[in-house]
Amino acid sequence: MSNQKMKIAIDADDAAIDLKRVIFTHLKGRGYDIEDLDFAGDKGALYPEIGFNLAKQIQSGSYDRGILICGTGLGMSMIANKVKGVFAGLCHDVFSAERLQKSNDAQVITMGSRVIGPELAKVIVDAWLRSEFQQGGSTPKVEQMRALEKESFEAH
Ligand code: RB5
Repeated sequence: MSNQKMKIAIDADDAAIDLKRVIFTHLKGRGYDIEDLDFAGDKGALYPEIGFNLAKQIQSGSYDRGILICGTGLGMSMIANKVKGVFAGLCHDVFSAERLQKSNDAQVITMGSRVIGPELAKVIVDAWLRSEFQQGGSTPKVEQMRALEKESFEAH
């Protein structure tokens, strides 16, 4: 899929509203089809519900990729990975962001607003969005993750 045709969702908790807005505006300006889910709205929802909501929408196919931001990026990564079929990874550097897509085929990237600044965050999401899964040697590894995920989710 042409990366500019991807549907992207973004959301954040109260620790990362400003960075979410920066990234949203940046990607809109680059022509991406991005929507701010704004799950918390005035409700003051916490990161687990916010991340879960976005990940469920990746699972259902409403969006191709998702960006989740909280204070550290850790909680968002943990909750997104609890949704079957969704792979999420925390990235605070460009190399990891590229590998997250090229090697791990993850639909969701998470970042921490208390860890990195807006300029680095922009470069990181750009690197991730322009990267595609490379297949080859990574394919059996990702397939194994999906098989183990299935085993784990269906065992209980
Ligand atoms: C603040 O609620 C903080 O716990 C959250 O933003 C995130 O860093 C959790 O992983």
